[in-house]
Amino acid sequence: MGMAGQPAAEAAHEDVDIADFDLTAVPDGYIADPYRYFAALRRNSPIHRNPDGSYLLSRYDDLTTVYRDPKTWSSGKKVEFKPKFGDSPLYEHHTTSVVFTDPPDHKRIRGLFQAAFTRAALEALKPRIESLVDQYLDELEDRRTMNVVDDFSFKLPIEVVCDMLGVPGEDRMLIRDWALAILTALEPKLSQAQFDTGNRAVTDFKAYLRDLVAHRRAHPTDGSDGEILTALMNAEEDGEKLTELELLHQCIFMLNAGHETSTNMISHGVHEMLRRPDQVQRLRDDPSLIESCVEEILRYQAPIQINNRRATMDTELSGVPLPAGTQVNLLIASGNRDPEQFPYPDTFDIGRRPNRHLSFGLGIHVCAGNSLARIEGVIAFGKLFRRFPTLHLIGPAVIANRIRFREVTDLPVAI
Ligand code: HEM
Repeated sequence: MGMAGQPAAEAAHEDVDIADFDLTAVPDGYIADPYRYFAALRRNSPIHRNPDGSYLLSRYDDLTTVYRDPKTWSSGKKVEFKPKFGDSPLYEHHTTSVVFTDPPDHKRIRGLFQAAFTRAALEALKPRIESLVDQYLDELEDRRTMNVVDDFSFKLPIEVVCDMLGVPGEDRMLIRDWALAILTALEPKLSQAQFDTGNRAVTDFKAYLRDLVAHRRAHPTDGSDGEILTALMNAEEDGEKLTELELLHQCIFMLNAGHETSTNMISHGVHEMLRRPDQVQRLRDDPSLIESCVEEILRYQAPIQINNRRATMDTELSGVPLPAGTQVNLLIASGNRDPEQFPYPDTFDIGRRPNRHLSFGLGIHVCAGNSLARIEGVIAFGKLFRRFPTLHLIGPAVIANRIRFREVTDLPVAI
C-alpha cells in the first residue's frame, strides 16, 4: 500500500469490554466510534452471541463465507418480520423487495431488474449527473459556508434515482420522508410511533407509485434519458414478469436504497477528506486517484453498516455450531476494518489497493446500484475538490443515532 504522504497509522484501539455487547442497546460512545467495538469483537468474540439470540459476525472471512452461501444463509425476512410487523404494509414491503427474497424468486426479480438497469441507462445518466453537480456547485459559488448534507450530498442521489423512475421534481421531498420512515423500521429497536409512521409511508408510497405507473403506461418513454420505469414495467424473463404489486415494491425499494446510502457516502467522503488536508492535496496532485478514493471512502465509513441472514439449516462458522434458524448480523463496517484483509485498517488511504471492501455486500445480492453509486461518487468528489480547493471543516460532523445506516446529519464547512 502506498504510504507516501500518509498520516501516521492511527493508534491501535484500546480494548473496550464487549463481553455483554448488545447491538439493540449499544453503549454510549458507540455512535461516535463503533470501530473500537468492532475491533474488540473481532479480537475477543468474533462469533458473538447477542442477548436477543442472534449472532454478530465481525471478521471479514466469516462475512464472505455467509454472503457466498445463500442456500445456508437466507435473506428472506418472513420468519423474523412476522412477529415484529404482523400483517402490515411494512411486512408486505420488506418481504417482497428483491433484497429480502431468496432464489428462485430472487433470480427472477433481480433478472428483471437488471434488464432495466443497463450500462446504456447508466451512460445516459452520466451527463445529467455532471450537470446536476455543476449546478449545485454554482449555487455555492457565492456562499462562505455550507452544511454539506443539505447543500450538497443530499441533493444528487435523490434527483438521480427519481429521474430513473420518472418521479417529478416537486415530489422529491415526499419520497425522502417516506424512504426515511420505511428504512427506520429496520433499526434493531423500533418504537410504536416509528412502526405507525413506517406503515403509513408504505401505503402512501404504493398509492403514489400506482398513479405514476398508470401515467407511464399511458405515456411510455424510450429510456434514452436513463429513465427505466418503462423498462421495469415491461421487463420479462423466460415468460415471467413482475406482478404489479412486486413492481411497486421494487420501485419503493430502489427509491429507498438509491438515495440515503449515496447521500451518506458523499457526506462521509467530504468529512474524511477534509479531516486530512494531505489527502485532498494528494487527489489534486493526482486526479487519477479519484476511483480508489471513492473505494476508500466506501470502505472507511460503510453507509450500510449491517446486513442480515438467517440459517436455513444447522451449520457452523469458524468452529462455532449455529442451529437452523440462527439470525446473524453481518457487521460490514467491521469486515471493512479487519487487519487480516486490510493492512493498517484504520488509516484512510485514497490510494489503497487492493480494496475489496464489503460496503456493497457480496454474492447474489451484491448491490445492483453499485456502478451508479460509484459514478455519483467519482463525479461529486472530483468536481467538489477541484472547484473549492480551500474547503475546510468549521465544526464537528453530527452522526445520527442509528445503527444500521451510518448517517451524517450535519457537516458545517467553509467554502
Ligand atoms: C453508496 C451507495 C450504496 C450502498 C453503500 C449500497 C449498499 C448495498 C448493500 C450492502 C446491498 C446488499 C444487501 C444484502 O446483501 O443484504 C445492496 C443491495 C441493493 N442495492 Fe445498494 N447501495 C448503494 C446504492 C444503491 C443505489 C444507488 C441503488 C439503485 C439505484 C441501489 C440498489 C440496490 C438494490 C436493487 C439492491 C438489492 C440487490 C439484490 O438483493 O439482489 N443501491 N446495496
